[in-house]
Amino acid sequence: MRPKSAHEMSHVINVIKQSLNGSSSIVYLNIKRVTHLNMTAFHCLADVLISASRAEPNRKIVIVTSSVIAWSAPLFETLAAEQPNLVVEIYDSAFYPGQTFVEDESFIPILRTQTKMTWRHERDILPRHGLRQGLTIADICCGIGDFATLIKRQFKPVRLVALDHSKKSLEYARRVAAEFGLSTIEYTYGDAAQMLLADNQFDFVTCRHSLQIFDRPDILLRELYRICKPGGRVYITNEKNSHCLGEPHSESIRWTYEQVAKLFSHFDMDVEMGPKSRRLLNDAGFDDIKVESFMVTNLDGDPRDFADVIEAWENVYAGQMAVRRGDPPDFIRRFRQGFKDHVLAALHPKGYAGWPIWAASGRKPY
Ligand SMILES: C[S@@+](CC[C@H](N)C(=O)[O-])C[C@H]1O[C@@H](n2cnc3c(N)ncnc32)[C@H](O)[C@@H]1O
Repeated sequence: MRPKSAHEMSHVINVIKQSLNGSSSIVYLNIKRVTHLNMTAFHCLADVLISASRAEPNRKIVIVTSSVIAWSAPLFETLAAEQPNLVVEIYDSAFYPGQTFVEDESFIPILRTQTKMTWRHERDILPRHGLRQGLTIADICCGIGDFATLIKRQFKPVRLVALDHSKKSLEYARRVAAEFGLSTIEYTYGDAAQMLLADNQFDFVTCRHSLQIFDRPDILLRELYRICKPGGRVYITNEKNSHCLGEPHSESIRWTYEQVAKLFSHFDMDVEMGPKSRRLLNDAGFDDIKVESFMVTNLDGDPRDFADVIEAWENVYAGQMAVRRGDPPDFIRRFRQGFKDHVLAALHPKGYAGWPIWAASGRKPY
């Protein structure tokens, strides 16, 4: 909204007035996608909102903003400060149930250790899904951006955007990229379910281990589809946690990972999503769908690396999520034991430990 005069705002103001007239209890004004607003527009909005608040003090007006547009909430909070029935709501401060866990700093060791293990598989898998040098790429829900740096080195994209909603992870990503002199990765703060990126921009869009974390994967997929060019591909990875395995102590390990799946489900996250990838891509409108699975194991390089992944899982899943769910100490002890047994299986000279992952992609039709 960048009008030259108040007159250019008359249509918008009329729509708002009509909505206000239609309700005596509560009205929501959604400005989540207003990325630009000049002072002429702001004054027009302020006039109509303040006079409506004064005219009907019992009606609540909720202005719904987004933290992605940094100026938005502070600007409208100046209005709300004067009117008790005018409220500013930042929709993405608590917008999906797992957010507090995955956006916390304590989640970073999980992401760091996981990518180290998965990359040795994915660098060979990705070309089978259409990734090659010189493409425009977006890594959506990029976490700490380590996958983006690996892509940058190996596949030399002409443009690489990496978006996430975790400020802590993005801070980490920017620091690492600076240390490695990778200044051209465009790290972006945003909500993957409501991206401000334009349609049909990218040849290759990746979204790894994240559809399973967000409570509305269908909406994320719709956005991945939207920003992908016709003929381009969207690549996703997801897990099936209850199929993590190990020997010895297979029973204890199996029990714990079945509990992991239930624990995530309690917070509306589906870490059993891997085998559902084909259906999800199909329902989202993709064609030429490819699906493959791979198993990260303790035989992939140094077994200590896999043990680090498992210990990072134990810290967050047993140390935070189970506690938040209110699980009793006996449950948490048994839950932790399965992770310890998995570590033992990974480090044991005759042991075997595995973590299965599904990699899938679909083409956006022309
Ligand atoms: C399990 S992590 C995976 C991160 C990274 N792709 C990786 O594999 O290391 C899930 C990531 O999704 C991000 N995320 C979840 N929902 C999101 C949303 N709606 N918008 C942006 N980021 C989101 C979280 O902040 C977190 O960094």
